[in-house]
This record gives sequence, C-alpha cells and structure tokens, in this order.
Amino acid sequence: MTEVVIEGRSLAIANVEGQVYAMDGICPHRNAPLGQGALHGTKVVCPWHAWEFDCRNGEHDYNPSIRLQTFAVKVEGDDILVEL
Ligand code: FES
Repeated sequence: MTEVVIEGRSLAIANVEGQVYAMDGICPHRNAPLGQGALHGTKVVCPWHAWEFDCRNGEHDYNPSIRLQTFAVKVEGDDILVEL
C-alpha cells in the first residue's frame, strides 16, 4: 500500500494480491494519511488509531455508515490510472 497525492487530493492505493484499489486517503477520524497505514487483507488500517476501512468499498469495519470514497482503477503496464 502507498499514499499518493493527485491534484492536492490524498489517495490510499492498495494492492491486494495483484488487484489494485484506490480510496480516499484521509481518515475521517482525525485526518491521518491512510496510505501510510497497514494493509491487512482488504482492510486499510489507519496509522494513528487503527480504524479500519475496506479498500474495495471504503466501508468502516464497525460502522458501515462511515464510508470513504473509492475510485475506479486501471493498470496499464507500470502505470496505475485512477478515475477521480
Ligand atoms: S486518525 Fe484514523 S483512526 Fe484516528
């Protein structure tokens, strides 16, 4: 997993067994950079207080009403294209 900033917008990019996902990179709890957290399976773990979000749909693990925006991803060779 990694953090990228595109046009001032932070994204968390996750590679789950070869499938690449892009999700909003700012944690809604206290604005931590999610792309600097850990990846456990499909769960992105916030580096500050360990809230977890599913990178496939942005959903918080305990509170489904908290959902981060996700973005369509296309991989072309070494490039990861994200539809913002
Ligand atoms: S800032 Fe992400 S869990 Fe607190």
